[in-house]
Amino acid sequence: MKHKIIVTGGLGFIGSHTVVCLHEAGFEPIIIDNLSNSEASAMDGIEQLIGYKPIWANIDVNDKAALGNVIKEHQPQGVIHFAAFKAVGESVEKPLTYYRNNVGGLITLMEVLKEENIDNLVFSSSCTVYGEPDEIPVKESTQTKMAESPYGATKQIGEIILKDNANWLNTQCLRYFNPIGAHESGFIGELPIGVPNNLIPYLTQTVAGIRKELTVFGDDYNTTDGTCIRDYIHVMDLAEAHVFAINRLINGEQKEPFEVFNIGTGNGSSVLEVIQAFEKANGIPVPHKIGPRRAGDVIQVWAETTKVEHVLGWKAKRTLETMLKDAWNWQTKLS
Ligand code: UFG
Repeated sequence: MKHKIIVTGGLGFIGSHTVVCLHEAGFEPIIIDNLSNSEASAMDGIEQLIGYKPIWANIDVNDKAALGNVIKEHQPQGVIHFAAFKAVGESVEKPLTYYRNNVGGLITLMEVLKEENIDNLVFSSSCTVYGEPDEIPVKESTQTKMAESPYGATKQIGEIILKDNANWLNTQCLRYFNPIGAHESGFIGELPIGVPNNLIPYLTQTVAGIRKELTVFGDDYNTTDGTCIRDYIHVMDLAEAHVFAINRLINGEQKEPFEVFNIGTGNGSSVLEVIQAFEKANGIPVPHKIGPRRAGDVIQVWAETTKVEHVLGWKAKRTLETMLKDAWNWQTKLS
């Protein structure tokens, strides 16, 4: 019998790649996703990769009765909780929607887990909890800052809620840096709805001719070339980190009930470096111009990865070049 793992948000960008990795690692992923920011077509891509369609419940994580029924029926060994809204700008416009979905959804899920005596959870957190950090690279122990947006606040609050429940729940809290790329097959990838906010989907849509040109948000920052620096990580490396986390929980290797790991590569790249790397990797120019700064952008952040490498035993393997090749391969299959 395969261990069952519930994956909330399993049809989303990171969720769909994690479903594939869980299957490859010998687990049976069970998907919960209400398509609020994903498309059912992700299931076709998953099927092409793993040979079958995993069980999928089209329910909202805020629907306690429905969520309870699925979890009761499957009695999973653990849950990976991706289901959440993630657009920083939108969260400023609709803070209550974000608190309801991201914080409310987590609480509802935890209530169900408690009732069903399920005590293993992997939580999607974000490097946004560090804000504009005082030290770079950021360590898991680096002081977190006041959240810059309601979205960021929902991640900080989520971490607090989980820590406060460490007397019965074991959590692996993964702080993602900037996930990009797609499965190398091009069968699954990111499906941004509307005009993308994030750099890579905007860039690939520009190269595909869907957008006129990419605007680089500011080149007058105090960085090597004046543009912001991020730790971009291949979504497959990120997905694989979840398998390490779930194994750590199931095997009882966790040293503390609430553990935090940075999921990044440890390398920072500027916006202009990403554009140049894309052009080099794919041999196509990226039409772009320099524009004003975007409100709320952190200047530079990348991960210290010593803890995740030594304690969780995971390390990102894929290069920026691979990330950008795979992102473009996915875009060409979409357009
Ligand atoms: N950028 C541009 N032009 C664009 C889009 C982005 O120059 O059209 C720049 C941004 O200014 C930033 C970099 O590209 O310097 C990366 O921007 P993204 O929007 O791709 O990613 P962010 O780092 O802003 O946000 C990501 C996640 C959030 C998370 C945040 C934490 O999308 O969910 O990291 O820092 F909260």
